[in-house]
Amino acid sequence: MSTDWERRLYLSAHPFAYPLMRGLARLGPVVRVRGVGVVVNEAAIAREVLMDGETFRKDGPGSPGDLWTPVLGPSVLLNMEGEAHRALRRRLSELFTPSYTEALCARVLDEPLARLADRLARGAVADLVDTVRVMAGAVICEVIGLETRSEDDWRRLFQQGERIVSMVTLRTRRLSDSQVEKARSVLGPLGDIAAKAYASGDETTVMGRMRALGLSEAEARGAAGAFFLTGTETVATFVPRLIALLHDAGRLDAALLAPGVLDRVIDEAMRVTTPTPVMLRSVHRPAAIGGVRVGPGDRVVIATHNCCRAYGPFDADASPHPPELRRLWFGAGPHFCIGHPLAMAETRAIARTVLAAAPLKVVRRSPSRRVLIPSYARLMVRKG
Ligand code: HEM
Repeated sequence: MSTDWERRLYLSAHPFAYPLMRGLARLGPVVRVRGVGVVVNEAAIAREVLMDGETFRKDGPGSPGDLWTPVLGPSVLLNMEGEAHRALRRRLSELFTPSYTEALCARVLDEPLARLADRLARGAVADLVDTVRVMAGAVICEVIGLETRSEDDWRRLFQQGERIVSMVTLRTRRLSDSQVEKARSVLGPLGDIAAKAYASGDETTVMGRMRALGLSEAEARGAAGAFFLTGTETVATFVPRLIALLHDAGRLDAALLAPGVLDRVIDEAMRVTTPTPVMLRSVHRPAAIGGVRVGPGDRVVIATHNCCRAYGPFDADASPHPPELRRLWFGAGPHFCIGHPLAMAETRAIARTVLAAAPLKVVRRSPSRRVLIPSYARLMVRKG
């Protein structure tokens, strides 16, 4: 039997936590685990929790807010709740529209994608891990307003984000003072660049758009930091996994470029990989989750990966996902991923280039070890 590479990536990233998490899925839809929290393994129940932003919040004890507020400031979407959060989301609803994000990716990625296409057409080996990291770095440079066309700059920015994200492990509840200082030393200068782009007010740029949408400089700066931390590694780790899944299923071919097919396959690969394998909430008032009583101070761990894997292994021909599952890997309700159109635009742009170069063979690959988001350390492909 061929290797289940997704399982291997998860095991290599989390050798102890992964078997434990998958084991919990067998214990029922909602399981209380001492020292961890109330774990949710079923998509419909997960969605109910995510939709109820008054009871299950991101700003209490044990929530991600605790983690990122010291670094990003108090008002950066992912640590906000209630009316202030709704108001900021409303103002940002037009920020990442599909047409704007498609245009942004075309503007930034056309050249590096042409280089990749050329490389593959010549029969050379390409490491899709490094290639996609550089491209994700390029997109995030554009988002925060760092003007550069240098691959080294793009790679450096990616690595800086990676260094911050790698401070977090599954057990991290708070960053230490020295970690906060280190993160701030990276985010400070990036915030300054973002603020400059904001001040120039050019509405083709993300920072200029935020100004036009009525955000203050501090809000726009905070949002840029949040995009940088949440929107780089998620995409960069996903795209090589998508390509590997298609390769291993014998489906890495240009037929997937037919209208409507690519998005469906990307959704299916997101379901199987779940780049954000868990979501955390803090309980703010007494409630029940799938029959399990919870109260203020309880921590809810939505095991998105378990919820999504309950629907079986990767299937490139899967019919549309049922409503309870729909895009759960991007969250649901008030905190639904605001960068979703950008993530899809980046993924589509890169996948189209790779698929157009098919048939391709994976000639070598290896998993990353002890990382937060399971990923390939390298994925070498060549025409063939
Ligand atoms: C494959 C790529 C991505 C995945 C799987 C992903 C996943 C998610 C998930 C699951 C959430 C909700 C978390 C929760 O409710 O606890 C979220 C929120 C968020 N994402 Fe993404 N994301 C991706 C790409 C991006 C990109 C490209 C950006 C921005 C440029 C971004 C920015 C954000 C922000 C700012 C939030 C917080 C929104 C809020 O709390 O209101 N993400 N993402």
